[in-house]
Parts: sequence; C-alpha cells; structure tokens
Amino acid sequence: MSDVAQLKERMKDFWALGDYPAVAKRLMPAAETLVAACGIAVGDRVLDVAAGDGNAAVAAAGTGARVTATDFAPSLLAAGRARTEAQGLDIRWEAADAEALPYADGAFDAVTSVFGLMFAPRPEVAIAEAFRVTAPGGVVGLTAWTPDGFTGQITTLMGEYLPVPLGTDRPIDWGIETTVRRRLAPHSSGLEVTRGHIVWEFPSLPATLAWQEANFGALVAARGMLGDRYAELRERFAGLIAEWNRGEGGAVRLPASYLLVVAHHDR
Ligand SMILES: C[S@@+](CC[C@H](N)C(=O)[O-])C[C@H]1O[C@@H](n2cnc3c(N)ncnc32)[C@H](O)[C@@H]1O
Repeated sequence: MSDVAQLKERMKDFWALGDYPAVAKRLMPAAETLVAACGIAVGDRVLDVAAGDGNAAVAAAGTGARVTATDFAPSLLAAGRARTEAQGLDIRWEAADAEALPYADGAFDAVTSVFGLMFAPRPEVAIAEAFRVTAPGGVVGLTAWTPDGFTGQITTLMGEYLPVPLGTDRPIDWGIETTVRRRLAPHSSGLEVTRGHIVWEFPSLPATLAWQEANFGALVAARGMLGDRYAELRERFAGLIAEWNRGEGGAVRLPASYLLVVAHHDR
C-alpha cells in the first residue's frame, strides 16, 4: 500500500473517534450558506464530497436538488444515512475517496464540500476530481477554516501534535485566499471568495473543554496517542479557548471564520 493510501486508512479511523455528528450539528449554518451561494435549486444534480453526516447534502435536498452524499469513513456514512432517512430525505449515500470519485465526467451540476475536501491529503488531486465530475457551466463550492479564527488556530495546534506525513499539505492552507486562488486557477476563472463565520457557544470554560474532549475526534486521538505530552496539548488547547472567548458572564463564545469559495466550471 502506498504512503498516501496508508495515511487515508488511518484518517478513516481518526474521523470515527469522538462524536463527529455532534460537532457537525454546529456547522450546519455554513452548509446552508454554501448551498445558497452555489445557487443550488430544484432538479440540480448535487454531489456532497467528504460529507460527514451530510450537512450540505441535507441543505441541498431542501432545495429540491437530487443529491448524492459521499465520505470515506464508514461510520459517518452510516450516521448520515440514519440522519437523512429519519428526515425522510431521498439522498443517495456512497463510499468515496475525495481524490478518486467513482463518477463519470460531468455527472453533477454542483459539487459541495463543507470543511471536507480541505482534509484530503493531496489538494490538487482532490480539486481536479471535483471539477472532473462537474458538468460544464456547473459549480464547485467549498468552505475551509481560515488560520485567523478559533477553529483555524485549533487546526494549526493539532497539526503540531498530530503531524501529517511528509509530502502532504496542511489542511489549513485551504483557508488562505492566495493559495485557494492558485489551486483553482487551472479549473475556474470565475471565482468568488468570501468570508463566513461560525460562533461556538458553551455555558462555561470547563464545559467547553469537556465537550471538546468528548466529541472532537482529533483531541480524542491525541489523548490516545500522546501519553504524557497530552497534558501540554490540553493546556494549550484550553489557552486558545480562553484567548478567543468573547462571551460574557461566564458563558463562552468562540468566533471562527472560514473561506467560502464558489468556483464556476470554465468549460
Ligand atoms: C470536518 S469533517 C466535515 C464533514 C461534513 N462535510 C460537515 O459538514 O460536517 C471532514 C470530513 O472529511 C472526510 N474526509 C477526509 N478525507 C477524506 C477523503 N480523502 N475522502 C473522503 N472523505 C474524506 C472525513 O471522513 C470527515 O467526514
């Protein structure tokens, strides 16, 4: 197995840790914003890539689009299927690697990815795949955390403790506008890049850290892997929560910004 294939196998297990659907629930507003920005409408063929339990897929289905949701982690596919069946939504769920999508060229009118494609280890491969399966005149839309918000800072911090192997790109680079424009230039001359915001809200500082340790898979992975060094990471994590907290009266409000990218397929 190649290094990249081995990395992906490890990442599938990693995304299954914690309670990702609990995290995803807080990201739904970004999915709704992205689907609206992409102009997805009734009858459109939509592919949600690295869908997790389906935030963008659910938002797109709400417009009357015909939606396929994909992810490479079996536990998230199962969670997504259960979620959308419970909501009575007709969404097709399929296992797929963002870097090797099992679809024909031009099979979709829109491809979305909410904080998903940014975690594929080879950005150029993943973005080329997204455009390959998009029909001429269609749109590729994605969101990615920026380095200068709470979640971006956390992503950077986790990267210090859970480093990806040599040769793979940092997920947070997808949140840098010049990098995004360079990566998308070969595929799209009509690119809209804007900023969106999520606020993570918790009742108190201790509740924030407890919630993160229970639900955030990267932190669960770190606790299992780092041994004594976990205490240092935990302290730095708590430090970022305190530094970014804009809440009052003991409550916690953590602002996180993201890039919202809508790229029109040139051909
Ligand atoms: C932060 S979550 C985002 C999930 C979802 N889009 C949402 O809105 O909550 C990142 C997702 O990317 C998926 N993922 C990471 N690398 C992937 C790859 N190479 N192919 C497919 N899915 C991938 C993970 O399994 C996880 O579900």
